[in-house]
Amino acid sequence: MLADFERIDFDIGKIESWPFVTALKVGSLDLSKISLVVENTNHLDTEIKKFASSQKTSDNLMKRRNGITKHLTKVLTNKFRGSTVTTFGSFESGLSLINGDIDLCLQFNGEKPKKVLKKIARMLNEDGMDNVTLITTAKVPIVKFIDSQSKIPVDISINNSLAVHNTELLRRYSALDSRVKPFIISIKYWARNRGISDAAMGTFSSYAWTLIAINYLQSLEQEVLPNLLKKDDSDTVDIDGTNYDIGMFLDEELHFTTLNKSNIGELVSGFFEVLAKDWPWNNGVISVGSGKILTRKEKNWVATKPYVSDAIQDPEIKRLGKFALPVEDPFDNKHDLSRVLDVEGVFEIRDEVIRAYQLISKNTNWSIITEIKYPEITPNKPKLDLFEDLRNQNDDKTKHDLKILYEQLKQVEKSVLVRESERNDAIKMSKALRRNAELAKEQSGLSSELRPRRSKIDELQSKRDSSNNHYIPVHFIEEELSRVYSILTTENTNRVELSLEKEKQMFSWFFELQSMYEHSKLARKYHREFLKLLEQQQHSIEHIKDIRQEMIEIQSFGKFTDFDDLAMKLLKELNPLKRERRNLRREIGRLEAWLRKQTHFNNNKHSRNKGKRKKSVDNVKVNAVKSKVVSGDSFSLQDLEVLLKNGGLSSVNKTKATHRKGKNKHKKNNHSVTPQRGKRGKSSKNQ
Ligand code: CTP
Ligand code: MG
Repeated sequence: MLADFERIDFDIGKIESWPFVTALKVGSLDLSKISLVVENTNHLDTEIKKFASSQKTSDNLMKRRNGITKHLTKVLTNKFRGSTVTTFGSFESGLSLINGDIDLCLQFNGEKPKKVLKKIARMLNEDGMDNVTLITTAKVPIVKFIDSQSKIPVDISINNSLAVHNTELLRRYSALDSRVKPFIISIKYWARNRGISDAAMGTFSSYAWTLIAINYLQSLEQEVLPNLLKKDDSDTVDIDGTNYDIGMFLDEELHFTTLNKSNIGELVSGFFEVLAKDWPWNNGVISVGSGKILTRKEKNWVATKPYVSDAIQDPEIKRLGKFALPVEDPFDNKHDLSRVLDVEGVFEIRDEVIRAYQLISKNTNWSIITEIKYPEITPNKPKLDLFEDLRNQNDDKTKHDLKILYEQLKQVEKSVLVRESERNDAIKMSKALRRNAELAKEQSGLSSELRPRRSKIDELQSKRDSSNNHYIPVHFIEEELSRVYSILTTENTNRVELSLEKEKQMFSWFFELQSMYEHSKLARKYHREFLKLLEQQQHSIEHIKDIRQEMIEIQSFGKFTDFDDLAMKLLKELNPLKRERRNLRREIGRLEAWLRKQTHFNNNKHSRNKGKRKKSVDNVKVNAVKSKVVSGDSFSLQDLEVLLKNGGLSSVNKTKATHRKGKNKHKKNNHSVTPQRGKRGKSSKNQ
């Protein structure tokens, strides 16, 4: 009757947080002495049926959920071009509780899933969604959050195609027999309320509990559910290069009729009895895909070290070995859903199973069996009536609250403005100081050119000088060349006869002059280059001096990184302030909407007393009140009433916005995540 790990001897002190397991260990509780008698469990059937019908999705909830899904689909497909959004999970399979989440899958191959999820998380945070959490360590990374208005939790995953298929499997199972749905949601409800249905906390996921519940119905002596999987590779899908067999029998192919006549109360009691007395994981693997519990050997999923019994005794052991309480995923047969469990989770699950079984055997009500254990981690019911808290509150109190909210909003807006302007200044300073880095780079570039240029100058100088030292200036050579040339070429009649010897000398002199002329031209070229480089060198030196001067001046303001840090610090302060501003505006919008509704109702009651003259007086009054709001003057409850009758705070903002319209047109933010639910949603966007 014991779980395998309960049979090992260990220090009782280590398990004192789990009273039922402790009682089993010390022998004060003997499961063999407990059994179910019809008189004690009969009431459960009625209670669970009532509970199940309380979990039906109302039209109002359906509208809310659809609104959120539709809006998120629009926002996500706009942001990630070419993507599609699919809904899956219990809401699609028909196995949801009223506080169940919305499961969305974004099909998108443009970027890495984790990067996409990070962007989504940022968007959701900016839009003031509650508890935005990124879980990237799970098999399928997700971003979780709670819709700030309805409090409905939402999970978004990327390319989670297999989940879409296993949702279909669960939907098929839930449609096979009318007892399946109430049975499964009872187990899910119990697990959730008792704090053992959260993979992130080391216990089974809601999905794993659903499979455990289905597997129970499949492995009864008279089974309630058959095996729906064909496992003949006739219908497969390829996901990320792995082939999955997703073939399911159609209803007409099944030829299955159950002989089991148990009512839901009996099925639920039986479930706990089996789990308590015949712990399936002692030697079994929950396998919905096989339609039964497989032996660990058959599945080749024998538990590996460290075992549960090791981990509970040794605080150093943080992770359990593989296959602690194995639950096979029906399509991904290699995936064991128990790999998320930690040792405390296993003890918690076992303790709760024994508790539930013992309570059932003692004729306990379903509400006690499923009593919420940890209110802080149990999802709230969706908030469908936005004015619930205001209905029983005196309107004067609401008006008073509204006045306080206006005051708070004014303060927050002031703080936002101050920080925004400080941040802009810091960014400007940083940009200016960044010039220093550019200058330093320019300076080092120029300096690195100085040395090679200097060698080149020296080289040219020495070449030029060596030419000049040995040869005569060019103009002289040119004159001499022309003179000798004319002597040598003029007709005999006009010149003195040259002796042969003299003519020889003249020719040799002429050739020498020619060679001197070439050298002298080269020397002139060297000289010009020398001058050019010298000029460049001087220019660079001057420039470096200027740069140094500018750098010294800029340096006196500080480092650009200091201003970057300041800008970042201010941004960090701004984010929560903006969130507070958004929340205040939302709350103001909500109270205003409620009071407007009330005023409208009262006005209708007294509408016969209204006259034309009063209307014009009102107009004057309205404008006076609005200008009080704009100027920040304090105003009375009567003023507030006037404001509310005439559009509330948003109407004041509108007047301000129209003044600015010409100059500064509003940019439409397509990525706002808040669903546009009437005026209130719109006003919260104007931030
Ligand atoms: N899923 C999965 N593998 C897991 C966990 C979940 O494939 N390890 C898929 C299942 O299709 C599951 C869906 O993701 O139905 C949504 O998971 P979750 O919201 O945890 O379970 P639900 O079945 O939707 O139950 P709940 O009513 O508690 O939301
Ligand atoms: Mg879900």
